[in-house]
Amino acid sequence: MITSHPPATSASPRPVRKAVVPAAGLGTRFLPATKATPKEMLPVVDKPAIQYVVEEAAAAGLDDVLMVTGRHKRAIEDHFDHALELEQALAAKGDTVRLDAVRDPARLADIHHIRQGDPLGLGHAVLCARAHVGDQPFAVLLGDDLIDPRESLLSRMLDVRERYAGSVVALMEVDPAQIHLYGCAAVEAAGEDGVVRVTDLVEKPSREEAPSRYAVIGRYVLDPAVFGVLERTRPGRGGEIQLTDALRELAAAGTVHAVVFDGARYDTGDKSDYLRSVVRMACARPDLGPGFRSWLREFVAALEDGPEAGAARADGRERRRAA
Ligand code: G1P
Repeated sequence: MITSHPPATSASPRPVRKAVVPAAGLGTRFLPATKATPKEMLPVVDKPAIQYVVEEAAAAGLDDVLMVTGRHKRAIEDHFDHALELEQALAAKGDTVRLDAVRDPARLADIHHIRQGDPLGLGHAVLCARAHVGDQPFAVLLGDDLIDPRESLLSRMLDVRERYAGSVVALMEVDPAQIHLYGCAAVEAAGEDGVVRVTDLVEKPSREEAPSRYAVIGRYVLDPAVFGVLERTRPGRGGEIQLTDALRELAAAGTVHAVVFDGARYDTGDKSDYLRSVVRMACARPDLGPGFRSWLREFVAALEDGPEAGAARADGRERRRAA
């Protein structure tokens, strides 16, 4: 079943309009928090991680978002829907700030939901979007990857798609010891700064097998030709149908480019990176940032005496200030 909400009106028209957000993972790295809550709904400060991803798509002009969900469909669907009782209660109190916060997710884009059914891999999740996407280029944003909202990665990728056609991936240089966690790309120069042509792709190679230090991160702009390839892509790494394997075939035909990204990106499915994303976003918030940054400075300065002492000292000062 596909459900939808009214479209946002502010996005500027672009040849690519649709975004697909696979959100069907089990979130096992975050158990027990993800026992009854999808990992994409874990809060980064006061918004679920997946809201940042949809905001990023909307900011790049994509006004149609298809969520490919798994067994936790309900919470994600509710988050991007209206919450009438809550809205009425806030409206009655005249709390317009919170009322806007509750209404915003449903206003971001025309949001649809589809269920993946069997968790057969990222390639399969993208293939599930075929009927909705049709014969148009589209973006894929992985719900786990949080790109700092001050970056413009997706817009740059859409520009590259406009100029070179074909598909566009995002690459980030990583420590070779980390490359086994990512798809890895072999590349050659494309004649412009920050853009390369992808000649080969390998899903989660060992350090020895990796053709480069370039890791694929969770943003893609895909040509609809990928669907035909995905249909005949056999299960690969981990027994799953891998998007990387389908893109490998397109790369061999010379139709995949990449934007090399060196900005702030967090894997919110990883506990340490998740914590870093929360700290980073909290520091950047105009309402919380100033107070939080000064607490953080004291906390870090006191860390040399051990984490407990650091917290106790910073929290003690905070309480004295508040008193
Ligand atoms: C997926 C892709 C992988 C990519 C990564 C980026 O892997 O299969 O190629 O590098 O996302 O986050 P996952 O992290 O879902 O295992």
